[in-house]
Amino acid sequence: MNDKLYIFDTTLRDGEQVPGCQLNTIEKIEIAKHLEALGVDIIECGFPISSPGDFKSVTEVSKVVTESRICALSRAVEKDIETAADALHYARLKRIHTGIGTSDYHIKYKFKSTREEVLERAVAAVKYARKFVDDVEFYAEDAGRSDNDYLARVVEAVIAAGATVVNIPDTTGYCFPAEYGEKIAYLMNHVKGVEHAIISTHCHNDLGMATANTLAGVMAGARQAEVTINGIGERAGNTALEEVVMAIRSRREFPVYTDIKAKNITKISHQVSSMMRMPVQPNKAIVGRNAFAHSSGIHQDGVLKNRESYEIIDPTDIGLEDSVIALTARSGRAALDHHLHRLGITLSQQELAIAYEKFLRLADSKKDIDDADLYEIAGVAEGNIRQKIALKYLQVVCGKNAIPMATVTLEIDGEECTHTSSGIGPIDAAFSAVKALVHRKINLEEMLIQSINGGTNDIGKVHIQIENKGTIYYGFATNRDIVTATVEAFIGAISKIL
Ligand code: KIV
Ligand code: ZN
Repeated sequence: MNDKLYIFDTTLRDGEQVPGCQLNTIEKIEIAKHLEALGVDIIECGFPISSPGDFKSVTEVSKVVTESRICALSRAVEKDIETAADALHYARLKRIHTGIGTSDYHIKYKFKSTREEVLERAVAAVKYARKFVDDVEFYAEDAGRSDNDYLARVVEAVIAAGATVVNIPDTTGYCFPAEYGEKIAYLMNHVKGVEHAIISTHCHNDLGMATANTLAGVMAGARQAEVTINGIGERAGNTALEEVVMAIRSRREFPVYTDIKAKNITKISHQVSSMMRMPVQPNKAIVGRNAFAHSSGIHQDGVLKNRESYEIIDPTDIGLEDSVIALTARSGRAALDHHLHRLGITLSQQELAIAYEKFLRLADSKKDIDDADLYEIAGVAEGNIRQKIALKYLQVVCGKNAIPMATVTLEIDGEECTHTSSGIGPIDAAFSAVKALVHRKINLEEMLIQSINGGTNDIGKVHIQIENKGTIYYGFATNRDIVTATVEAFIGAISKIL
């Protein structure tokens, strides 16, 4: 029987330390409830001494989350520990996470102290925290660069002092997988009483090794993994929850299981990305927009014959509807035929060959082949061509102390219609006007605005994902006017629904 690997999520603490990603208490509660529904065992939701906002978030999350354990961070300082305990007052299941740096970099330069003094402070902090809660996790900050002998002494001492979990952070993302695995194995083999505590991984991604290091730690005996949704976190981020969970599910050799309900992964990834204003890179493992998209003809043909030819995870396992067979100039006939079938169009081999020639010509000049193009390529009667929608006019008013307003004129199926809306910014106002004109409930799932070379006359590229009745639609546009590009990308995505 495999052991359970406890999933400790720190999106709301380590993840939230990213500049620009700060959340208010209401947003933290919302994400915490989704983490609980995902099946996360421990939610670290703040560092209460650091700010009144963090204190309040830990308190409020403690009132509403009952299934997951709520954890609060502190330094090895009595006042920090007391504040963490106060903030956790309402939690049904609670944990204080206290600790101190154990590498010589931290001991000599940060604390101007000695190994012996740091060891004493570690023990004192754990004993003090145990006065308030039964569950105390100790972190040995910069354990990745700490001397293994000394680290083992610290771990042994804090377990004897009452630590229930000992966290071995690779704070600077310095370790290689074999090295981090050996560090955990060393502790498992040399620490007396190690069986009385759970050893935890906490890896940062500075060298792109966070997931590999976490899995090496698990193979060596760690039974808790500290992770964040989408791998969000300081600098290059933390270990991504979705990568660890799906690696364990996909490869049977792991001696552990998790209680994560993987079907919720896609949804929570979108929520965290939009609430924390952190777009997910398109090629991000598991949750990137292209993680299940196939664009070359050989791969598409293989996936259409048998999904497993080019996919190791079934996209429905993480809550997606299906893989994406992208239509590009590199797509083959099988992909075109697949999309025509999706639209209810069946062509003979000869008709398909003609349609494919037309498709290749169009795909060479147009990046995004949409359903209307497919109807045209297949030569289906005009009446069957989907509704067309085009942006005819856009004017926005915005600026300091101005009320943002947008007037939008769309041509929908040959008819022009205009609407004016206000919003919290020009894009919000323009989107409201577009939604009023198309009469649809549309949820914006992701919006990524990029410049090409950074000048003020630069071309803006906008990627947008929207959701309608559970299906995700994608839009893309470029323009020197960034608001126009954004509205065009939005309309491009909507036209796929209509
Ligand atoms: O990376 C780290 O060392 C941390 C600790 C505070 C747990 O986040
Ligand atoms: Zn960290």
